[in-house]
Amino acid sequence: MGSVTVREKAFGKLNLSLDVVGKMDNGYHSMLMVMQSVSLHDDVYITIEDGAGEITAHTNRAYIPNTNKNLGFKAAEVFLNELGIKNKSISVSIKKRVPVCAGMGGGSSDAAAVIRGLNRELKTRLSFDDMRRLASMVDSDASFCIEGGTMLASGRGTELKKLSPLPDCVFLIAKPRFSVSTPTLFGKLDGIKVKARPDTAGLIAAIENGDVFGVSRRCFNVFEAALSQREKAIVCGIKDTLVNCGAMGASMTGTGSAVYGVFSSLPEAELAEKELKKTVPECYIASPEPSISE
Ligand code: C5P
Repeated sequence: MGSVTVREKAFGKLNLSLDVVGKMDNGYHSMLMVMQSVSLHDDVYITIEDGAGEITAHTNRAYIPNTNKNLGFKAAEVFLNELGIKNKSISVSIKKRVPVCAGMGGGSSDAAAVIRGLNRELKTRLSFDDMRRLASMVDSDASFCIEGGTMLASGRGTELKKLSPLPDCVFLIAKPRFSVSTPTLFGKLDGIKVKARPDTAGLIAAIENGDVFGVSRRCFNVFEAALSQREKAIVCGIKDTLVNCGAMGASMTGTGSAVYGVFSSLPEAELAEKELKKTVPECYIASPEPSISE
């Protein structure tokens, strides 16, 4: 075989809604969330060589570990172990573009991309369901990222139901400087009484009806209630700017700290970007990304 390198795109995701509906015996929380892939993506290069199962990983961000704490590395490890492959070595090189520690599932998507790339190149013929099972061994959001598109996620986040593609719209995503640890935010949410929850059924109905305004005004994330006063003020400030600049709806994604607004056209989103960049330098424009075909 020699050495072969494949490239996979690893699309970021936004939570159109995020609800935490209970706690499971294993310590994980039960989720109910509408997830949406976006065009903003990392490029994942996977090099496969004859070898004895060595794995290496590196990214263009010095602060991301090159050990199995790097989810691309962990995905390669899970893939080789679960398929009992002992005669290949893998190196994963990731060009990050999706903001890190943002709630956009960048690391999870890198993991999913490694699984898809290895499956294709090594001709292991895994179905999406098989790949989602491997992805769930890496982390909770990676299963969604195998196929992406628009989905309802429940349970740990790994039980997935495909929804209709989102109608045309443009996202402006702003990543404030602070970041929040996922387990810490789950812990804080456990300690408060959640007063407002997303209208998940209404959101799904709006998606199925192709009603982008109905979708936008239902974007909602319970984690915002668990932020510190300082963090809440930053997130609310960004949401206010987005809405004042014409966003039909705005929310934080995942456990943050990125906040997005939904716009009906690119020029509107660009105007909002100009305004927002005065206070939040890290801004991105993206569109909804459809699911990957099997
Ligand atoms: O699965 P993942 O590595 O993304 O989870 C990171 C942490 O987030 C878990 O260790 C857990 O503390 C928390 N978590 C949770 N319930 C979920 C997903 C994640 O409590 N459904």
